[in-house]
Amino acid sequence: MNINSAKLIYFSPTQTTRKVVEGISQGLQVVDVEALDLTTHDAEIEKPQRGYEDLAIIGSPVYSGRLPAVAVSRLRKLKGNGAPAVIVVVYGNRAYEDALLELRDVAQEAGFNPIAAGAFIGEHSFSTNCTPIAVGRPDVEDLGKAKTFGKMIREKIINIRALEELIPLQVPGNFPFKELRMLSDISSVTQEMLCTRCKKCTSVCPTAAIHADAPTLTDKSSCIRCCACVKCCPAGAKSMDDPRIKQAAEQLTVNCSHRKEPETYL
Ligand SMILES: Cc1cc2nc3c(=O)[nH]c(=O)nc-3n(C[C@H](O)[C@H](O)[C@H](O)COP(=O)(O)O)c2cc1C
Repeated sequence: MNINSAKLIYFSPTQTTRKVVEGISQGLQVVDVEALDLTTHDAEIEKPQRGYEDLAIIGSPVYSGRLPAVAVSRLRKLKGNGAPAVIVVVYGNRAYEDALLELRDVAQEAGFNPIAAGAFIGEHSFSTNCTPIAVGRPDVEDLGKAKTFGKMIREKIINIRALEELIPLQVPGNFPFKELRMLSDISSVTQEMLCTRCKKCTSVCPTAAIHADAPTLTDKSSCIRCCACVKCCPAGAKSMDDPRIKQAAEQLTVNCSHRKEPETYL
């Protein structure tokens, strides 16, 4: 089989998943590469005009050992039409638990044919100067591994005549998936004195939780604590300073300082 094009499909509030997915695509040696960014709240209305005829690389971060619910609902709207897919989760150096298995199932339900999988490490969304967790990842070494993985996927595809020749992809994880226990009453906060009302945060928020005309106001019930607003604010006005998040970040800094390495499944 040939690979002529690749579609990069990702949900990536703080951009680490996007970087890994792009890194994998660099090893595929295809010229025609298109991105479908499912991160922003208006991504929900984007529907593909046609199915995916070639390879898809589908990436999501890990939230509490699962996929973010909003990413799942957006992925479920896609139509895979049997296209081969590489599924990728990116996690903050703690654990990815059931997320890769969940992504395999979600991709299959959307009509994709998962043929390869990877779990990579990205800087933890809760990482700060005081509580550093996997800072700067994916780094050069990670992206080198992502590219090598892309080359191996290419080899795998060009050495078969049809997808039916492949055995079903096995990935780690348990079903039923671990229960989602997300805190629902926490959002980022804004130091009003620092906010310049540039509204960059409103454009990156995946759930439109930040008020479009008053960017210092965030709806706690919609916020998914992805920290996109915190990381993108040019004035440093946003922070996630709820004591429960700070405590979690402190624990992660202590307990997850040992560098984990990407895992791939082919
Ligand atoms: C609400 C939330 C829950 C998270 N849960 C986990 C987790 O269970 N394990 C882990 O290692 N990292 C966890 N992370 C960290 C992210 O998986 C990691 O930072 C990832 O690189 C973010 O991807 P993005 O840059 O594409 O947004 C969590 C992050 C958030 C915001």
